[in-house]
Amino acid sequence: MKRISLTQHLIEQQRLHNSIPAELRLLIEVVGRACKTISHAVGKGALGEVLGSAGSENVQGEVQKKLDIISNEILLEANEWGGHLAAMASEEMETIHLIPNRYPQGEYMLLFDPLDGSSNIDVNVSIGTIFSVLKAPDGMTAPTEKDFLQAGRKQVAAGYAVYGPQTMLVLTTGNGVHCFTLDREMGAWVLTQRDVQIPAETKEFAINASNARHWYPPVTRYIDEMLAGSTGPRQKDFNMRWIASMVADVHRILNRGGIFMYPADAREPDKPGKLRLMYEANPMAFIVEQAGGAATDGKQAILDIQPEKLHQRVPVFLGSKNEVALVTSYHQE
Ligand code: AHG
Ligand code: MN
Ligand code: MN
Ligand code: MN
Repeated sequence: MKRISLTQHLIEQQRLHNSIPAELRLLIEVVGRACKTISHAVGKGALGEVLGSAGSENVQGEVQKKLDIISNEILLEANEWGGHLAAMASEEMETIHLIPNRYPQGEYMLLFDPLDGSSNIDVNVSIGTIFSVLKAPDGMTAPTEKDFLQAGRKQVAAGYAVYGPQTMLVLTTGNGVHCFTLDREMGAWVLTQRDVQIPAETKEFAINASNARHWYPPVTRYIDEMLAGSTGPRQKDFNMRWIASMVADVHRILNRGGIFMYPADAREPDKPGKLRLMYEANPMAFIVEQAGGAATDGKQAILDIQPEKLHQRVPVFLGSKNEVALVTSYHQE
């Protein structure tokens, strides 16, 4: 097998589609490098003293794990000095992070969920990092939170790393979705899947069913019909999977189809769902659409939502096209 490195792939993509200028390539390579460092820390587990809680809370009121904070620091440090960024934003930081004056400012803005699947850290189950890249608005000098509030369609790149049995990097710059596997001996990202496509049909769904009593009627109807199996209205048996790391659930769906849901529910009407638009839903929606799937909030494409707040939450339905279309249609009835 001819090995294609991340760098080589990015340069080839630039030649083919003119979609990855040198600054963006640097940004993606730096994020890739940071993910290698995070992967290394994750892999050490108890031996690296990285497990357990940090004893602090983030702006969403979640208890921060040590790895949430370590991963956030790794991403900030890696991306600060290169001159490719204007600012950064993260699940673990209340406000945006400006590039220190001692470094040049670039034209990109990076958003990330440094460590996705925090509840799985201490039990040795797959976790990940999610990132999204936007361009700074024309004429911007001192970045503010407002500059980040761009619809997901404006993303110029998005990706995730999954720290599982293998560490993988999944990337889109708007010309398909391509996957890289970390060669741990060489420390290199090697292209292992080109142009991944999500099957339109599936028999698998992913939802935290313990919230069933709080769901709104369209979700209850959709799940009940699947649970009814081959003698129900769907006339087929479905299987359920829930890893509780969005990265790992999306990675499964990317590879063999399925639908992933984190709906809004009746508990907190002003907090629609659990997942965050800017650094979870948007990058995943970009990847899923680029792989031929769909992603909505039940009403509209996630990528068309005009964000109002940096840490805004949204309901998420994503994956195999036909299933996302069906559950979305139930919300419109
Ligand atoms: P994070 O660890 O970044 O806060 O995200 C956790 C998210 C997501 O990864 C996952 O799909 C979901 O929370 C799991 O939620 P439940 O605990 O309700 O299963
Ligand atoms: Mn969290
Ligand atoms: Mn997350
Ligand atoms: Mn997180």
